[in-house]
Amino acid sequence: MSTASPTSPPAIPPAANESCWCGSGRKYKRCHKPLEGRVLPGVVSPMRTVPAHIPRPPYAESGEVRRWNESAIKTPDVISRMRHAGKMAAEVLRLAGEFVKPGITTDAIDAYVHDLCIARNAYPSPLNYSGYPKSVCTSVNEVICHGIPDSRVLEDGDIINLDVTCYINGVHGDTNATFAVGTISEQDANLIRVTEECMWRGIEAVVPGRPLSDIGKAIEARAKQDKLGVVRAFIGHGIGEQFHTDIQVLHYYDARNNTVMRPGMTFTIEPMITLGTWQHRMWDDDWTAVTADGKRTAQFEHTVLVTDTGVEVLTGGTGAASPAAPWSR
Ligand code: MF3
Ligand code: CO
Ligand code: CO
Repeated sequence: MSTASPTSPPAIPPAANESCWCGSGRKYKRCHKPLEGRVLPGVVSPMRTVPAHIPRPPYAESGEVRRWNESAIKTPDVISRMRHAGKMAAEVLRLAGEFVKPGITTDAIDAYVHDLCIARNAYPSPLNYSGYPKSVCTSVNEVICHGIPDSRVLEDGDIINLDVTCYINGVHGDTNATFAVGTISEQDANLIRVTEECMWRGIEAVVPGRPLSDIGKAIEARAKQDKLGVVRAFIGHGIGEQFHTDIQVLHYYDARNNTVMRPGMTFTIEPMITLGTWQHRMWDDDWTAVTADGKRTAQFEHTVLVTDTGVEVLTGGTGAASPAAPWSR
């Protein structure tokens, strides 16, 4: 007879208040239960290369992001280039979403996105950005954002956010969406639906002359209707010739976010909405952000332009994963 404590969970787990299967003597819910069913880090494959004919952003070789002053109001030339980068990013995101299915690894999604970018003469902006090792962010289940593609296999019932950014003609277009892997729970489907709606409520709040805080106010109000959490640590950002510029777009209401929106400004709106707490923890890789309670989270992102009368969604329209507000399509 073996007296050693088991090191892996039994096929049928104990009830929450029964003692843990590991032999610690603690209740299952106070011991191993919180760790089970969580995403585990896999093996990260070597960095992919981009053919020499594709123009690269300044950080591509060293991985060091050196910021420079960039006007918040874009010229017509920058705007027309951003329209193109946005359209390409939107296309890559939709195709990558259609590729999602049970049994594939997040690394296979990375290879696919990498090749889709190159086929469009785009550099995949995440690659070597501050040393980030892959061409797309793949954030599964309780991963809030910046998940690194690895050897983990997608399981039926997972949810996955793909965050695609393309650098073309000297500008970036940044967009993400959350996709179902096979058949998902009604609770997860609602989380995804409401998160997409939160993003579009935020986009609708883009009006020249109004403060940026209107965006977070609209997002937070929609999340609250379903008693969902709004992540605070990661925010929308100015974008253009640089991936991240100094405009900050909070996804919750804060009166101090009072920069006035002006025609020609470009920034992202990218709410991360949770089933439980809005607090996060970081994995040891210093990239992967997860919910502190292990509950699931979803995100959607568009790059937008403030126009004279309202907003233009540079990563939206036909061919995008989230082409328009759900209530207007
Ligand atoms: N695309 C992300 C965003 O929405 C940033 C990813 S940075 C990376 O801002 F280095 F992780 F790729
Ligand atoms: Co972004
Ligand atoms: Co993004």
